[in-house]
Amino acid sequence: MPLVKMKEILTHAEENGYGVGAFSVANFEMVMGAVKAAEELRSPLILQIAEVRLKHSPLHIIGPAMVAAAKNASVPVAVHFDHGLTEERIREALKIGFSSIMYDGSHHPLDKNISETKKMAAIAREYGATVEAEIGQVGGSEDGSVDLEVLITSTEQAVKFAAETKVDALALAIGNAHGVYKGEPNLRIDRLEEINSLVDIPLVLHGGSGISEADFRTCISNGIRKINVATATFNRVVDAVNTQAPFKDYFSYHESVIAAAAENVKKHMEMFESVGRVKEEILNV
Ligand code: 13P
Repeated sequence: MPLVKMKEILTHAEENGYGVGAFSVANFEMVMGAVKAAEELRSPLILQIAEVRLKHSPLHIIGPAMVAAAKNASVPVAVHFDHGLTEERIREALKIGFSSIMYDGSHHPLDKNISETKKMAAIAREYGATVEAEIGQVGGSEDGSVDLEVLITSTEQAVKFAAETKVDALALAIGNAHGVYKGEPNLRIDRLEEINSLVDIPLVLHGGSGISEADFRTCISNGIRKINVATATFNRVVDAVNTQAPFKDYFSYHESVIAAAAENVKKHMEMFESVGRVKEEILNV
């Protein structure tokens, strides 16, 4: 029964100094590809979908598929609701069985972000779910609909936010952005280092697509435990399908989507050093 709380996965990563990919999925094939990659590489996995993506992939359809895939996997899988914006949707995800939620109140002033995060965290706790929240503002936007500027997380605010909300994982803005980076990502490692020395919970890096292996490694050695990857998987799938088309039938196309999603997930698992971390004795697998 390897549907686990995200906190278990992040605690193991923290104790052993590696990162875990949280891979966004949009359909059945991507769910299958991500789980296949994790099983083949014996890596823990976080499967996620963001609230803004539900217009394409309705939660009542994709949610149960994600939970079922996790329950049937041979490695620990957490099912995470990414960038939760509304109480209604967060509750719906928890009822479906998501083992983790992110409440994103980063657009609010600090005090409101703290009070709203505490409210959503209390709801998640009723279900025993893990809670992630964000402080500062990651650039771009999850679905590319707006281009938010990067507001680097203040160390002082991160310390206050973590102490008052008691969340399990904290997403920071250190120059990272959702979607395709406009130039080379320029991460504020100095700020990450400072926050990591003062905040004792696993840290989260959003906007993983396009960050270099060297930067991932530096982030991981400075406390980043969860790394979100969405655009890279979507783009890999589109490229594979465009290259391989025309398909002789629907099912060859279906196999191609699974393989392309798995390929991108594997590539990131290697960079995050989560490969081979699932052994008989860990995480009750
Ligand atoms: P990318 O689309 O840039 O990989 O960002 C994913 C993300 O952070 C989802 O929350």
